[in-house]
Amino acid sequence: MKTKITLIALLSLTTSGVYADDLSRYQEESRALAIPFLKNLAAENKKAVEEGGHESAIKVCTEVAPKMAGDISRQNGLKLTRVSLKVRNPLLGTPDAWEQKNLQAFEARAAKGEKPETMEVAEIVQEPAGKSFRFMKAIALQPGCVACHGNADQISSDVKARLSEQYPHDKATGYSPGQIRGAVSIKRPIEQN
Ligand code: HEC
Repeated sequence: MKTKITLIALLSLTTSGVYADDLSRYQEESRALAIPFLKNLAAENKKAVEEGGHESAIKVCTEVAPKMAGDISRQNGLKLTRVSLKVRNPLLGTPDAWEQKNLQAFEARAAKGEKPETMEVAEIVQEPAGKSFRFMKAIALQPGCVACHGNADQISSDVKARLSEQYPHDKATGYSPGQIRGAVSIKRPIEQN
């Protein structure tokens, strides 16, 4: 039902273009998808660590996160992914030009003291493939993440072994809590005139 309403709203824009109102509505809708996604992931991660330790929790980032992202994408007619400037899985997490530019802008804002928890960007972008609404929300590293994304002395030898086997080009270590690990990125196509 929700998807239908969204579709009608999108179609009604085709003749009139996109107004500022729509930008903020899309932004709110995106935020309403990104925040529960991150909360659920953190909860799944905590549960998995408690039940089976960090080695078993690896599947939260490898299986649960992409599956949740895929489900949200299909249910809402958009593309939700996780991207980073320092990726572990380059196949899923490499940012495109728009994402890279805005992740760098997030880093610049963090360097000036802004907290990543509230950092967002939303924009209507015209690209060769068409017009789309684009959104990113920064992912702040939490204490529960350092066991796999922290400094070498915070990562157990078992986890290290798994990571180096599965991700020979891993760049996603050396983070401390409060830093920007990456972002949730949402791209939603907009009908052309
Ligand atoms: C048990 C180990 C583990 C923990 C704990 C963990 N991650 Fe990950 N993380 C991974 C693995 C493995 C990947 C690569 C997933 C894949 O193959 O797509 C990953 C990938 C990511 C990515 C996607 C971008 C990339 O680098 O590929 C983000 C963003 C991310 N993790 C954030 C977090 C955050 C935030 C936390 C804490 C709430 C966290 N992770 C906790 C193991 C972990």
